[in-house]
Amino acid sequence: MTTSSAPGKIILFGEHAVVYGRPALAVPVTKVHAEVEVSDSERKGIWIDAPDVDLHAELNTLASDHPIASVIHNFLFLARVSPFPNLQLEISSTIPVASGLGSGAAVTVALTRALAAHLSHSMRDEEVNAFTYEIEKIHHGTPSGIDNTVITYARPVYFVKGQPAETFRVGEPFTIVIADTGIAAPTRESVADVRKLWESDKKRWENVFAEIGDISFAARRVIEEGWVKMLGALMDENQTLLQQMTVSSPELDTLVEAARQAGALGAKLSGGGRGGNMIALVEPEHAETVSRSLKEAGAKHTIITQVV
Ligand code: PMV
Repeated sequence: MTTSSAPGKIILFGEHAVVYGRPALAVPVTKVHAEVEVSDSERKGIWIDAPDVDLHAELNTLASDHPIASVIHNFLFLARVSPFPNLQLEISSTIPVASGLGSGAAVTVALTRALAAHLSHSMRDEEVNAFTYEIEKIHHGTPSGIDNTVITYARPVYFVKGQPAETFRVGEPFTIVIADTGIAAPTRESVADVRKLWESDKKRWENVFAEIGDISFAARRVIEEGWVKMLGALMDENQTLLQQMTVSSPELDTLVEAARQAGALGAKLSGGGRGGNMIALVEPEHAETVSRSLKEAGAKHTIITQVV
């Protein structure tokens, strides 16, 4: 039997601007994770149990573009495993689905590594990362690649589209509260709306993206040096620019304000915006108070996580 697990992720700085070549920072969220267990089976075929998504099936009964089936098919093809072995796969995840926490990429990374280990197919991190990016493309069109990178390396990442990922060191651990508005907001749509803005006035929006890029650049240094208190102001600045880009929403603004009122050092939306998640930087001793205030202000659930 072989097991593997992978964390969730959250974008700290630079969403949307990253689509236009500016840097973004993202970190793993170890509080939540996807886990996969692979064992040999007496039954013929590859049997999948994923109770979180109510999936109990043999591989060949699933459509080939099913997210889990496509990982298995592509892996077995890549690893040139033939004939298919008889396997039992147990897949579970505590990462909320479709909420910007990278649940899809985490399942892919854990599943790929568990299969590779069980079938003695050695795979370097770079290969797991590249493979997961290909799978992400099947399901998400044109992802920037930030999710697969953070989740594969389980390290903070400084990400510039099209460039090799740079992981970086955290000088001093810090605590963030993640709060979910509970509003499903497809990233595709907010990305398309930002593109319309950009097309209507490229000079103006390139300037805004450049400002955000400068914030991400500064934030990396601040995190590496462990100047945690300075991070809050950078989050607030980034949030103001995201509001100008129309990707915040009344619900996100309410949560950001509630977090600041409850003592957060800074707060902003995270990911595509319009709904989904926001994040607040907090002193560890204020984490519970901020989390409670966020719930009172309408958050559907919160996660307190340490970035190390
Ligand atoms: O909602 P998430 O975590 O998938 O983040 C989307 C981030 C964007 O910059 C808006 C889009 C992208 O592909 O990077």
